[in-house]
Amino acid sequence: MRKIMLAFGTRPEAVKMCPLALELKARGECETVICVTGQHREMLDSVLNVFGVTPDIDLNVMTERQTLFDITANVLSGIRGVLTRNAPDILLVHGDTTTTLAAALAAYYLQIPVGHVEAGLRTYDVSSPHPEEFNRQAIDSVSRYMFAPTGVARDNLIREGKKSENIFVTGNTEIDALRYTIAPEYSHPLLDWAADSRLIVMTAHRRENLGDPMKRIFRAIRRAADERPDVKLVYPVHLNPAVRAVAAEILGGHPRIKLTDPLDVYNFHNFIARAYLVLTDSGGIQESAPALNKPVVVLRDVTERPEGVAAGTLLIGGTSEQDVYDAVSRLLDDEAMYRKMSAAENPYGDGYAAKRIADVILSV
Ligand code: UD1
Ligand code: UDP
Repeated sequence: MRKIMLAFGTRPEAVKMCPLALELKARGECETVICVTGQHREMLDSVLNVFGVTPDIDLNVMTERQTLFDITANVLSGIRGVLTRNAPDILLVHGDTTTTLAAALAAYYLQIPVGHVEAGLRTYDVSSPHPEEFNRQAIDSVSRYMFAPTGVARDNLIREGKKSENIFVTGNTEIDALRYTIAPEYSHPLLDWAADSRLIVMTAHRRENLGDPMKRIFRAIRRAADERPDVKLVYPVHLNPAVRAVAAEILGGHPRIKLTDPLDVYNFHNFIARAYLVLTDSGGIQESAPALNKPVVVLRDVTERPEGVAAGTLLIGGTSEQDVYDAVSRLLDDEAMYRKMSAAENPYGDGYAAKRIADVILSV
């Protein structure tokens, strides 16, 4: 029986790899081994709990205020032994994190074929997002199989000279995850708190936004919310201490803004489904929010998800205080624009990407 190993380590990778792990296990046509690096700890475990996925191996690498050097070195050396001992026929990795880069590199060194889920996303600016844009390009250059979520991602890979027979357009497994999480009957005390208001759900955590850009973004959002008494905002703050300090400083203490710990993905997806508007610098939320018909202001200068901008569901808000303020204000004040963005079609798939990926892996 063939052995397929999945390696992942952060919250977004887990959200997008658990549907694939469950699909492969349900088929029973291969041995499925799950190795987590623990680049995230609480935020990873929370996703694993929601999906009921138990890892076979856990490298447990996370440390407080870890650097890219720490994560890269610890994952690379830790996964070497795992790959050698388990000798999988293929290693599946996801997206663009440091876990993904180091795991793919280790497999490449050991000449184990790599399958890259969510291949082909690009900004072609290695400083934004940093270091994810470099990671994605490097990972695709060592991947045997590339699972592109959209035609745009596929075209990027083709332009870079990748062979078309190794590229498969599958949709994004983020949309698959919604099939596990969205509950029609859902309630939460924070939603009751916001019941009489327009609810904004926001997240922000990108490394290149840490420091001044994040301060500017938060000041703009506080101002936009402050000026509109019918708006309430919930921000589940990432566990990075560098993010938490700025969030508390600028957004804390406002009667209509709630800062919470990260929500688990079940709760978070259901919050998005009931929000009026989403503000985020996250990658995955740029996919799930459009699938739930929620307009998104992207708190970044560029996105590797141009399909969402073209479809009219994502608005690039930038990172200057005035640009973010203007973008948020437009969506809160211009009802026609809001309605148009809510009605735009989600370009990230139908929720069956994991099945397509499994079909390919089990047939090659
Ligand atoms: C990482 C990814 C990023 C992804 C993000 C998702 C890299 C380089 N970055 O960034 O692409 O968008 O995850 O959230 O791979 N922490 C905890 N508990 C947790 C998770 C994090 O305490 O469960 C704290 C730790 O102090 C850690 C810090 O957050 O040092 C930053 O985590 P890290 O994985 O280095 O970076 P992210 O910003 O989360
Ligand atoms: N998410 C979550 N709880 C939160 C914030 C986000 O479960 O409090 C989910 C979100 O729905 C998406 C994934 O985490 O599925 C995205 O992770 P994140 O924003 O940390 O990373 P990125 O996508 O930017 O790499």
